[in-house]
Amino acid sequence: MSDPTPLLETEGVEKLFPLTRSLSDVVTRTPGRSVHAVDGVSLTIRPGEALGLIGESGSGKTTFGWLAARLHEPTAGTIRFEGADVTHLTGKALQRWRSNVQVVFQDPVGSLDPRLRVWQIVGEPIRAQTGASRAETRTKVEALLPSVGLPQDCLDQYPHEFSGGGRQRLSVARALSVDPKLIVLDEPTSALDVAVQAQILNRLVELQRERHIAYLLITHNVAAVRYVADRVAVLYLGQLVEMGGVREVLEHPVHPYTKALLAAVPIPDARRRKMRYRVEGDIPSLIDPKPGCRFAPRCPFVIDRCRVEDPKLRPAPSAPDRLVACHRAEDVGDIPAEALLQTAPELPKAAPTAAGG
Ligand SMILES: Nc1ncnc2c1ncn2[C@@H]1O[C@H](COP(=O)(O)OP(=O)(O)OP(=O)(O)O)[C@@H](O)[C@H]1O
Ligand SMILES: [Mg+2]
Repeated sequence: MSDPTPLLETEGVEKLFPLTRSLSDVVTRTPGRSVHAVDGVSLTIRPGEALGLIGESGSGKTTFGWLAARLHEPTAGTIRFEGADVTHLTGKALQRWRSNVQVVFQDPVGSLDPRLRVWQIVGEPIRAQTGASRAETRTKVEALLPSVGLPQDCLDQYPHEFSGGGRQRLSVARALSVDPKLIVLDEPTSALDVAVQAQILNRLVELQRERHIAYLLITHNVAAVRYVADRVAVLYLGQLVEMGGVREVLEHPVHPYTKALLAAVPIPDARRRKMRYRVEGDIPSLIDPKPGCRFAPRCPFVIDRCRVEDPKLRPAPSAPDRLVACHRAEDVGDIPAEALLQTAPELPKAAPTAAGG
């Protein structure tokens, strides 16, 4: 069976943020330098699927989410939506396209205007997309509120009258208001306490099933990814290092970075509680990075080749549905994180950082 057209497809997408040049750079004509926040990411999201995106802080998750929603324009690469190139959409065409992809931001306080009432907040995308009247917007919002578990009679309330969970429900309702095909959820529950997180995640999963919406779930919360996502992609310093089915990747990570990331997650199992895969070495800079694997300075399995040659994303040797970017995938794929614990203290010293800045 051939794959249907992906909903979203990125091909070699890059986002560079130029750094301000110092006076001495200008005088000496030193070229401007850039932060490579997202560096050549190619992935697809299928219609109705939930893709988890994990990685340490600063790995480029939010930047990628903004690219997917075309809140950023990529520096290089291509973004396709339902097969159409949307990389450089601008003006009215971009505005029209925006109903397809909505974003729920991490901070439900900062992302909701405190001066606006519920119907105005939730209805804002409806008005922007369709120019609906006040009465039409209120009717639509009223009908939408129960689907996120909010009462219909809160139309005229203000955000501060809601709990953190309530405000995040408002954000989800706002995203849903224009019937998007994809919602980028950027740490949607990290500001909430655990019981409320579970309620919101439950609702998101139900909404996905009811409405066949696709999600890009950006989070540090591996349990949330396991619960919501069908597949997961792992970012390290702006590059994809591993991608595959959520259970396979989380239970049998192949890339040494994924193993490290997951082993650092506290696991509520007495036998495994002490598990820590020691990751030593410096994190290379994102400013004009040098060639070679970005994880090489911290990797227990580093060989000379890793320091000079970028590993390409390729099918994992023992799991053909899995993609992994590691020269040593054949040797390290089956090594469980536990085994690394014993080898970690004898690891070679960290290599010099990949860039000086
Ligand atoms: N507007 C910007 N200007 C300059 N640099 C930026 C900008 N936005 C992000 N960056 C840089 O890009 C890199 C990736 O940032 P990003 O916020 O995408 O990471 P993240 O994975 O979402 O991190 P976190 O888990 O902390 O939210 C970081 O080094 C960050 O400092
Ligand atoms: Mg972020």
